[in-house]
Amino acid sequence: MIVIRSRRLQLSQFQMTDAPEVFGCITPGVAKFMSWEPPSWDEYLARCEKRAQAPEPNMFSFTIRRVENNECLGMASFEGADSTSPEVGLWLKERAHGQGIGTEVVSALIEWGHATFGKASFIYPVAVENTASRHIAEKLHGEIIGNRTNPKYNSVVYRIPFREASHT
Ligand SMILES: CC(C)(COP(=O)(O)OP(=O)(O)OC[C@H]1O[C@@H](n2cnc3c(N)ncnc32)[C@H](O)[C@@H]1OP(=O)(O)O)[C@@H](O)C(=O)NCCC(=O)NCCS
Repeated sequence: MIVIRSRRLQLSQFQMTDAPEVFGCITPGVAKFMSWEPPSWDEYLARCEKRAQAPEPNMFSFTIRRVENNECLGMASFEGADSTSPEVGLWLKERAHGQGIGTEVVSALIEWGHATFGKASFIYPVAVENTASRHIAEKLHGEIIGNRTNPKYNSVVYRIPFREASHT
């Protein structure tokens, strides 16, 4: 199992045993700037099982936990490991917002993607109005390279470079 560690966090490859805790972190506030709506437990379980049965080789999902007490905080994703700039994403439960955890997660994914796959840059799409998430991209020297749209919101697409000095 892949495990990524950072100062306060452990990102471990999602396992079915994580499902109840991860599901417990999902609220409407978390989904506001995500492409999905909060699912029912049955829908969520079905989605997890489908993914577990047909894993995609270049896509990784991680459960985010606080190292000190193993508290589940949310999920992170790393997609397109075979592409020039893999795409990273995350969501955190509402009680974990505003503690710099988002920045720590994105930094850790970038470091891992550089160390594991030799990638020099990463894609990070963000809803235009998602100020906190855009702050993360900008703090990590992200540049806007495009736009996306989905039925819920319009997004800007950042390209974030790997930079030795900016990751802790
Ligand atoms: C977006 C999200 C990942 C941010 O994570 P976080 O841990 O709360 O963010 P951080 O604490 O690292 O803060 C990031 C920056 O945004 C700023 N910020 C946080 N909330 C803010 C707000 N509501 N308005 C303006 N700035 C805000 C912080 O001050 C920080 O900037 P700074 O380091 O320059 O001070 C988190 O809020 C979340 O999971 N939201 C729900 C799902 C989601 O939107 N996922 C992202 C999809 S791209």
